Amino acid sequence: MSNPSLLILPGDGIGPEVMTEVRKIIDWYGAKRDLAFDVSEDLVGGAAYDTHGTPLTDETMAKALEADAVLLGAVGGPQYDELDFSVKPERGLLRLRKEMDLFSNLRPAQCFDALADFSSLKRDVVSGLDIMIVRELTSGVYFGEPRGISVNADGEREGVNTQRYTESEIVRVARSAFELAKRRGNKVCSMEKANVMESGILWRETVQKVHDEEYADVELSHMYADAGGMQLCRWPKQFDVIVTDNLFGDLLSDVAAMLTGSLGMLPSASLGAPAENGRPKALYEPVHGSAPDIAGQGKANPIACILSFAMALRYSFDQGVEADRLEAAVEKVLADGLRTADLMGPEGGTPVSTSEMGDAVIAALDASL
Ligand code: IPM
Ligand code: MG
Repeated sequence: MSNPSLLILPGDGIGPEVMTEVRKIIDWYGAKRDLAFDVSEDLVGGAAYDTHGTPLTDETMAKALEADAVLLGAVGGPQYDELDFSVKPERGLLRLRKEMDLFSNLRPAQCFDALADFSSLKRDVVSGLDIMIVRELTSGVYFGEPRGISVNADGEREGVNTQRYTESEIVRVARSAFELAKRRGNKVCSMEKANVMESGILWRETVQKVHDEEYADVELSHMYADAGGMQLCRWPKQFDVIVTDNLFGDLLSDVAAMLTGSLGMLPSASLGAPAENGRPKALYEPVHGSAPDIAGQGKANPIACILSFAMALRYSFDQGVEADRLEAAVEKVLADGLRTADLMGPEGGTPVSTSEMGDAVIAALDASL
């Protein structure tokens, strides 16, 4: 049997340097765990625009559809701010999500004990935190039509975006949230704005229906998304799985990320429906952006990208034990006090560069054998 295939898209800013560390870890699994991948690499975002004049070529899109999993670094940078909307780096990422039909975006917010003092919230509010935000990723206001900027009848410019959800789009993401909850704390909180948006009413009714018909044994609650944001800051440990739409999920996952102390720590998985071979189409990426201000200086924290590969092991390759091993290795280096610049707090620690952090994770993996 051939090895599973991985398409790596390092992208822009710190993307390439954090991905270099992930490559070391992928190689480690090939050498030490007999878990080899066929890895290929390609361009996305500004890097693709610079070379091809588009943030994602059709060839790269085709490769992504072929691959068993895609691993992406980050896209974007200030040098692309003035580009036409249609060729902005972010369009490359959005095209991947849409054409791979990655409707379920898993964003775990886990607080590593060694970093609990980094959070802007008090230690007892965040220590041991482990929640999962499931964000709908292929519909809603991100893709709804009509959209655009035009001149209205009064001669005034007008910007329009449309929040639009069909029942089936809500059903499939709700199912994925309930399935996850069954393997975790068995609780789902659905968030929308049913008090002001019809799409929110449909969202709430549909999630409730999926629950009643298929997942009555999972605890379900509903919250308005604004109250949800407030509750995330007040007492985040009340949540297990949160399911929400594309835009609210974008906002709430950044809020949840900050609870854990650093955006540099958080991975994500974007999953489609399972294919014939049982594997879902999948793209894994850190939640953080391209951080152009620190790019190329060896300051970036590679952990979010490394943990994204751990999610790939778990969700694409059925390697839960190896995913646990990698997560434990990360936990170990943090407990040992190794800190990239973003993790340097008043209590100190050993400052390390991007590559030193990667090497330390490899050493912890070696020690786990
Ligand atoms: C995210 C990002 C993206 C989004 C951008 C880069 C298009 O903020 O993945 O959360 O808005 O979805
Ligand atoms: Mg975002």
